[in-house]
Amino acid sequence: MMKSEVKTSLLDNMIGVGDSVLLEPLTEDTFLENLKNRFDHSEIYTYIGSVVISVNPYRQLPIYTPEKVEEYRNRNFYELSPHIYALADEAYRSLRDQDKDQCILITGESGAGKTEASKLVMSYVAAVCGKGAEVNQVKEQLLQSNPVLEAFGNAKTMRNDNSSRFGKYMDIEFDFKGDPLGGVISNYLLEKSRVVKQPRGERNFHIFYQLLSGGSEDLLKQLKLEREFNQYNYLCLDSAKVNGVDDAANFRTVKNAMQIVGFMDDEVELVLEVVAAVLKLGNIEFKPESRVNGLDESRIQDKNELKEICELLGQDQAVLERAFSFRTVEAKQEKVSTTLNVAQAYYARDALAKNLYNRLFTWLVNRINESIKAQTKVRKKVMGVLDIYGFEIFENNSFEQFIINYCNEKLQQIFIELTLKEEQEEYIKEGIEWTHIEYFNNAIICELIENNTNGILAMLDEECLRPGTVTDETFLEKLNQICAVHERFESRMSKSSRFLNDTTLPHNCFRIQHYAGKVMYHVEGFVDKNNDLLYRDLSQAMWKTNHVLVKALFPEGNPAKMSLKRPPTAGSQFKASVATLMKNLQTKNPNYIRCIKPNDQKTPHVFTEALVRHQVRYLGLMENVRVRRAGYAFKQPYESCLERYKMLCSQTWPHWRQGARDGVKVLLTELQIPPEEFSYGRSKIFIRNPRTLFELEDLRKRRLEDLATLIQKIYRGWKCRTHFLLMKKSQITISAWTKRHFQRKKYLHLKSVTLIIQSYIRGWKARKLLRELKYQKLCEESATTIAAYWRGFQVRREYRKFFRANAGRKIYEFIVQRIMQKYFLELKKKLPSMSPTETTWPARPYLFLDNTHTELKRIFHLWRCKKYRDQFTAQKRAIFEEKLEASELFKDKKALYANSVCQPFQGDYLEISKNPKYQKLTGAVEEKILLADVVNKINRANGKGAPRIFLLTQSNFFIADQKSGQIKSTIPVMDITSVSVSKQTDGLFAVHLKEGSTAAAKGDFLFTSDRLIEIITKLYRTIFFKTNQKINVEINNEFLVQFNQDKVCVKFIQGAQKNGNLPACKRKNNRLLEVTVP
Ligand SMILES: Nc1ncnc2c1ncn2[C@@H]1O[C@H](COP(=O)(O)OP(=O)(O)OP(=O)(O)O)[C@@H](O)[C@H]1O
Ligand SMILES: [Mg+2]
Repeated sequence: MMKSEVKTSLLDNMIGVGDSVLLEPLTEDTFLENLKNRFDHSEIYTYIGSVVISVNPYRQLPIYTPEKVEEYRNRNFYELSPHIYALADEAYRSLRDQDKDQCILITGESGAGKTEASKLVMSYVAAVCGKGAEVNQVKEQLLQSNPVLEAFGNAKTMRNDNSSRFGKYMDIEFDFKGDPLGGVISNYLLEKSRVVKQPRGERNFHIFYQLLSGGSEDLLKQLKLEREFNQYNYLCLDSAKVNGVDDAANFRTVKNAMQIVGFMDDEVELVLEVVAAVLKLGNIEFKPESRVNGLDESRIQDKNELKEICELLGQDQAVLERAFSFRTVEAKQEKVSTTLNVAQAYYARDALAKNLYNRLFTWLVNRINESIKAQTKVRKKVMGVLDIYGFEIFENNSFEQFIINYCNEKLQQIFIELTLKEEQEEYIKEGIEWTHIEYFNNAIICELIENNTNGILAMLDEECLRPGTVTDETFLEKLNQICAVHERFESRMSKSSRFLNDTTLPHNCFRIQHYAGKVMYHVEGFVDKNNDLLYRDLSQAMWKTNHVLVKALFPEGNPAKMSLKRPPTAGSQFKASVATLMKNLQTKNPNYIRCIKPNDQKTPHVFTEALVRHQVRYLGLMENVRVRRAGYAFKQPYESCLERYKMLCSQTWPHWRQGARDGVKVLLTELQIPPEEFSYGRSKIFIRNPRTLFELEDLRKRRLEDLATLIQKIYRGWKCRTHFLLMKKSQITISAWTKRHFQRKKYLHLKSVTLIIQSYIRGWKARKLLRELKYQKLCEESATTIAAYWRGFQVRREYRKFFRANAGRKIYEFIVQRIMQKYFLELKKKLPSMSPTETTWPARPYLFLDNTHTELKRIFHLWRCKKYRDQFTAQKRAIFEEKLEASELFKDKKALYANSVCQPFQGDYLEISKNPKYQKLTGAVEEKILLADVVNKINRANGKGAPRIFLLTQSNFFIADQKSGQIKSTIPVMDITSVSVSKQTDGLFAVHLKEGSTAAAKGDFLFTSDRLIEIITKLYRTIFFKTNQKINVEINNEFLVQFNQDKVCVKFIQGAQKNGNLPACKRKNNRLLEVTVP
């Protein structure tokens, strides 16, 4: 969006002059100078009005990018710097929007860039026209037709590595929206002589080299070809490889392009077979053979090649061989066969090769047309692109140059016609008076060549058809007779040359003064080339093949359709096709691209002036400029003119409110431009002289500088003022803030001072008030006290007599009561914890409560203990009773006791009833088991210990085997008299039995056990419950035991520890058992 709003002009940033019409002064030198200047600055395009001159840069310039396409899209022609895209855009838009058919005529000499230009135009149109799958396919087919045609129709020449050897005109058809529908291609005059012979340093058509380089081994085998170029006579060998050209890759491109265009695989095959056949034809050689009648006859030297060609083309070998040996002439219903000599045979061979290739090329064009043909019948808009050889002047100009130059004359003619017509139409449309334009009209030269009665081509045809001996010389003679008086024709015999006395003109030549210069033609070959003869025997032989394509290429060989009428000559064919082309072009709006080749070396940056001057001349470019400038050199719509120059007049600057035309009038009047220098059209201003335009431009440039200064001045002023205002504003803001800050600080200080003073005053006032109130209160209290005392005194005085008797006791009781009350309440608060072990008690507050305090402590403790005891269950109580019993028995008497305090008395340590091992034992013991533990029974004889189960019930205690549970002894508890233990930490104890009881047969028992305290306590209690008697528990370090009949003393002595904590017993003698304890 932004881009299109920027108003630019061709006149901006110009290098040299973008439009040559504006050249001042206009001479050939200034024209060339301008081209060179622009070329040196990479500006390869220059306009002559709407004609684009393109100078081949011979290098890739960055001016064909998609961005450039966008830049030129939908812009006015003169809006941007000259470009081929501007022309393409203009043509495409007037085709799409104004429904005008267009043609783009591209001319120039070989290598000037015509084909490139035509491709650029096509690619631009493809880029800007509609999109979509179908449209894209059409575009692709149209674009891909180029590589196919270039492969078959282009060749390397001395002047161009990719020279088009045919003229091409392509109509691209569009629908009403501007979307491409299809196209039609016409081809002109393929240079078929190249098939059989190429000048030095040039090549045959690309396809031959591409096929041999890029064809697969299989393909070459199938086509019976060898890969080496030097196997083929038709391929020029010294320049078979072209720098920078990859023939093999190009072959793939061509095959791909053929596929995209729509060639079937078998069609491609047929085409390649014909190409191969042409190549192989060149290898057929003839040798002379003398016949009896003295006539020379030719024979094919090596028939192998012929055989292969016949295989390739499905041909009967004999038929072809005969066609190379005989020529049949039919005259008056009579057939006469003559033999061919060697030269004639070669001529026939080459004619066949040329014709075969030429017809193949035409077939290809038709086949492509079939593919790219528009598929609808709706009305189409057409854009034609003509890429045709430009004017040619060589050292040796022959029939081809004559024909080509004729074509260029015709193109120049329609250029003049159409340009003038266009100019005239515009003048009429704009209401400008038409002034006659002086220019050279080349109709007279066209007339000289194409006139049906006495034109050169007509005479050539006449000569060709004439019976009798016809040679190029007889043709020249005829020309000399008929055209001698023509002012544009020169020959040795003509009037004008005689007049000029021109000896530079050789005898076998004639010269024509073309619009672009004089060209001398050699007549040699004119008749032959015009005849373009292919012996009938050959075309018939070709028709007889089985090869579908070849058969179709030679329809005249069909005997059924044979006619005696001669085929039209090359000249008349060309004339007819040029006439059709011209007719076609006349209905269209022309757009010209004139291509110029800057040097012969195909190198960039080199501008050979002489070469360009030559081209400028024969392209008639000066003529072009003159025609363009004949009336008014420059025209411009009023709006753009006013927009561009309005700053030159105070009335129109900066805004002109009325019509643009009036604005321009005011402007030009004020500028005092002479009135003959311009005319006012309806919508455009016409300026006669470029000088006037440049004066305007100069004024504009100066004015722009002034304006720039003005803008600069105002901008600078504005910038400074804005800066100043900003600074002022900032300064005010800063000072406001500073002032505020100081004022605030002052205010806060004042406020705090005021507050302090205020508070002091308030304080002082309050204190004063307080003092007064206190004094008031004191007065009131004093009064009350005085009153109370006074009343008290009164009362006491009145009641003294009742009071004195028991007041003292009452007061005393009251005080004591109060104190006690206070004491109890405080004690309640300070009571210690409920734990019976707690010993603390609050301190006594009054001495007189000492006893009470101690008593209360005792009572509280008892109560606390009772509370504690009350929590106990019967079971727990029994345990504690047992523990109490143990404490009474052993505390402070036996050292072992201390260890037992923390051990709960579990009683049944062996869990006899649950243990299946002691089943027998459980069965034997009927009562409840009070204690079951493993003890060591001390052997009475030697003092050694053995483990036994010690089992106590309410009535008995049992000693059983530890392993089997077998009861060894049953002792009723009633038989126990006493128990003895030491004072030490050992676990040895003796159980003394009643004398004479059954259990006492062996005497008293000696045991050791860690749980001695529990065992003895339990035993003691059991006996007490059973007998209500307390047995004696003797605690001594020496005591007596009864063993059988002996009384033995057990004596404890201190000794080294041997087996843990257990005492070691030793029977010393009959009377002594020593127990060593640690
Ligand atoms: N616009 C361009 N930019 C870059 N190179 C260009 C341009 N135009 C032409 N060329 C170069 O010049 C060479 C010749 O151009 P081109 O084949 O278009 O010439 P031609 O006028 O068609 O010649 P002929 O008449 O022999 O066919 C191209 O191969 C290319 O290298
Ligand atoms: Mg070309």
